[in-house]
Amino acid sequence: MTLNNSFNNLKIEKLEKGVTVLKIARPQALNALNTETLHEMKKALTAIARDSSVRVLVLTGEGEKAFIAGADIIEMKDKNVSEGVLFAQLGHEITKLLELMPKPTIAAVNGFALGGGTEMAIACDFIVASDKAVFGQPEVSLGIIPGFGATIRLAKFIGFPLAKELIFSGRRVKAEEAKEIGLVNHVYPSDSFMKSVIELAHSISQHSYSAIARAKALMNEFSESSGLNFKLDAEATSFGQLFGSADQREGMAAFVEKRKPAFQGL
Ligand code: COA
Repeated sequence: MTLNNSFNNLKIEKLEKGVTVLKIARPQALNALNTETLHEMKKALTAIARDSSVRVLVLTGEGEKAFIAGADIIEMKDKNVSEGVLFAQLGHEITKLLELMPKPTIAAVNGFALGGGTEMAIACDFIVASDKAVFGQPEVSLGIIPGFGATIRLAKFIGFPLAKELIFSGRRVKAEEAKEIGLVNHVYPSDSFMKSVIELAHSISQHSYSAIARAKALMNEFSESSGLNFKLDAEATSFGQLFGSADQREGMAAFVEKRKPAFQGL
């Protein structure tokens, strides 16, 4: 693949035995997803999905602190309704690439995975976490809802009651609890995290590529990926509509001004 070094906010490393690591690299914003990064992810994932030398994809974040600290709030705060819908739809194109590409995708969550961070992770086939990982869907604290698929996918990992609690409360979940509730498959010590992740990826990449692709396609179908586009469109519409609300303006202004929001329910 000739994509290496052609991105402002991504790093791609092709390792031995068919394992490729895609790193979100905007450490100054804790790897938050702005539009440029989402377009770069779309381009990179489209190429990776077609690259037969890639057997397993690992998605992770640059730096010690964050996997992805969500969608970029500073960019989002001035969006209107139609821009909100388009932003969610762009996020959905990426989560669908992760979920549906014919090769295994592993989210290696090395730190904060909030909002769109948890949503990118749950679009992967499964998640492994470092002991520093923190998950959560804090959107309601910003006057919006998750827009990159959590209203659909989070329950597939942890069941509806817990998914609703996390989306309604914005509560953060640390690595150990994430393991207990089935959100992550394994928690590895942070000092040897990527080594453990790569070993796990190699245990998959040594097997038949075509057999694994077939198993993934079937398991996706059996786990109700059917109707996915309809559900994602409904989420994008609701996400966008909230960009016409006073609470969205207040919630995001409060984040930027580093203060508590005063919501009116409008
Ligand atoms: N969008 C844009 N910028 C973000 C961001 C986001 N989602 N998350 C973090 N940043 C930026 C901060 O604004 C800050 O920039 P600054 O240094 O120019 O002020 C920088 O990244 C470091 O973040 P900071 O908040 O100072 O770090 P912290 O260790 O105190 O807190 C978090 C870390 C992840 C808990 C906190 O940044 C946070 O709550 N981020 C937003 C998470 C969120 O709500 N995501 C969902 C969005 S829908």
